[in-house]
Amino acid sequence: MSVEHRRHGLRDNIGTGRWSLKIACLLATAALAVSGMARAGDPLAPTGKWSANTDGHAATPPMGWNSWNAFFTDMDEEKVLASARKIVESGLAAKGYRYVNLDEGWWERRRQDGRMLVRTEKFPSARTADGATSFRPFTDRLHAMGLKAGLYSDLGRNTCAQAYMPHEPNLPRGGVAEREVGLYGNIDRDIRLYFAEWGFDYIKIDGCGLRAYGEGSGPVKSGRYRALAPLLDLETVGRSDIPAVRGMFDEVKASLIRHNPDGDFLLSLCIWGSANVRSWGKDVGNISRTSDDIGPDWSRMLVNFDTAAKRALYAHPGSWNDPDMLFVGKGDFDENHLTEARSHFALWAIINAPLLIGSDLRKTPRVLMDVFGNADLIAVNQDPGGHQAVVAFDSSDAQVFVKTLTGGDKAVALLNRSSRPIKATITSGHLKFRDDAPVLITDLWTGKSTSFMREMTVTVAPRETLVFRANGRHRLDRAAYLSELPGLVNPAVDGVTDPQADPTIHRNVAPGGGTHGTGPRPIYAGWGGAQADATPFGRELQIGGRRYGEGIGVLANSRLEVRNPGYDRLTVNVGVDDSAGDADRTVTFAIYGDGRLLATSAGLRRGAPAQALEVKTVGIKLLELVARAPGAINERLPVAWGNAVFWF
Ligand code: GAL
Repeated sequence: MSVEHRRHGLRDNIGTGRWSLKIACLLATAALAVSGMARAGDPLAPTGKWSANTDGHAATPPMGWNSWNAFFTDMDEEKVLASARKIVESGLAAKGYRYVNLDEGWWERRRQDGRMLVRTEKFPSARTADGATSFRPFTDRLHAMGLKAGLYSDLGRNTCAQAYMPHEPNLPRGGVAEREVGLYGNIDRDIRLYFAEWGFDYIKIDGCGLRAYGEGSGPVKSGRYRALAPLLDLETVGRSDIPAVRGMFDEVKASLIRHNPDGDFLLSLCIWGSANVRSWGKDVGNISRTSDDIGPDWSRMLVNFDTAAKRALYAHPGSWNDPDMLFVGKGDFDENHLTEARSHFALWAIINAPLLIGSDLRKTPRVLMDVFGNADLIAVNQDPGGHQAVVAFDSSDAQVFVKTLTGGDKAVALLNRSSRPIKATITSGHLKFRDDAPVLITDLWTGKSTSFMREMTVTVAPRETLVFRANGRHRLDRAAYLSELPGLVNPAVDGVTDPQADPTIHRNVAPGGGTHGTGPRPIYAGWGGAQADATPFGRELQIGGRRYGEGIGVLANSRLEVRNPGYDRLTVNVGVDDSAGDADRTVTFAIYGDGRLLATSAGLRRGAPAQALEVKTVGIKLLELVARAPGAINERLPVAWGNAVFWF
């Protein structure tokens, strides 16, 4: 029963007598039955709506350039425009690189009336006769070149460089209040200025201002900055004020919508995976950082990659995982390390990461420009289906990632994380192709094609990523496993109530940091979240002793939203996963179509055989898969939507 119907129906029937009360009770009971025991305020209640972000301009991951990895705060207009020109002249713009983003270092100070001022000695075109400064001539230049313009700010009053890089050039100037250049207390004023007046199209919002300025912190003790009680804690989820941080981002988003009537904006969240942003960033922003800063070294790149690589279900058109900007061009990824540079790029491409170049393009050698310009890899990254690659083989040394492309081809990457050559095998099984039909594969670096039956073994050099496009006969006729289509699945409620550090994230020695102190702590990267073809803790899906190579693993008390692009039917085997620590609790599985209950299971416990559910999905736009276990400790109760298949 729709809300509308209920409202009118009840108003018409409820009188003062006993009979009216009875009708009201009957209606209420019917409403509960229809909605499958959903209660108001219940996060598992079906909504009939896709809740991941669709505002802003990110149908595919953003591509472009950012000043930070190239220049840190030492940037100026000429450096930025030279890179912009290079993007156009080299043909990268025509291949999709659009955004030219200023990172930290553009500001002069906040005027007494609150207006932000541009550092005109670095951005001379921003000078105005009245001293108010304007970035409009700068963004006009970029727009005239066919590019888009991005800016940087912080959610707090102060910034990262002010706290962590006090000797960098281009820090804000003036008194304490003038140096408060972040959005805190100025959200709508600043967003209006940056978008409506200055014409920017993209904003990256950092969080150091909410992290580094506590009472007694270095910056505050220096007397140069006002204290702000920290709302973010990078290491411990429980020490962050999640509603406060999210609320501020919601406010930013509302301002962006208000000041961009054409909807052409992009919101980049940069709180490095803290405050459990991994579960809600996708609902607010267009891209959301999953880790601390990348560095120009192999192991740091892997750390960043790891934090996003197993979050395929958390990326969709409109909201992408962001393992940070590319460092191709420096250190382990310079022209003398082409293998590593190509690996880094291929890995970002296949997990639908933003492709934001962080190199000084005035000096970038041709071989590296060719890495950025690999049209086949760009096509993999920009595939309109928006399905992030899923892990098909996993180990500390070698990994295989497979991404579904529009039209049925797959992209497959074989990563050798180690420093020795390894033999790696791609099988039809990894690709979910039949092993009695040939698989045609094309190497996306060399362009060479070859075919194999069943499997192909290759040598992967140290730190190399081989990446192919593969065409074969799908194991299912006129059907697809749901786990091949992660861009259609949104874990609206993933059941994680106790965020734990992720043991699969590689930890590296910070460059220059040596082994002082106790070393990097394990971080929370979404461990326990919903997974394609695995349980939330990385095990094989198994219900009642039967293994499922395909399916979605998630914790109890979860609700998955699934977009239906036109399939006729969904079949699935549901049950509590055999890896559950809780053998007593009963889980009920329900499938809704556009908010209406379509199917429901019996109450199932660990060890019970899977129950098959089948629903017709013709004409249905949104399915919701709900696993309900009142009172459960969800982390002890992983459940499986085994062998979930969408059929035509
Ligand atoms: C960091 C952020 C970097 C860069 C830097 C600027 O917090 O992760 O990408 O923006 O701040 O100070």
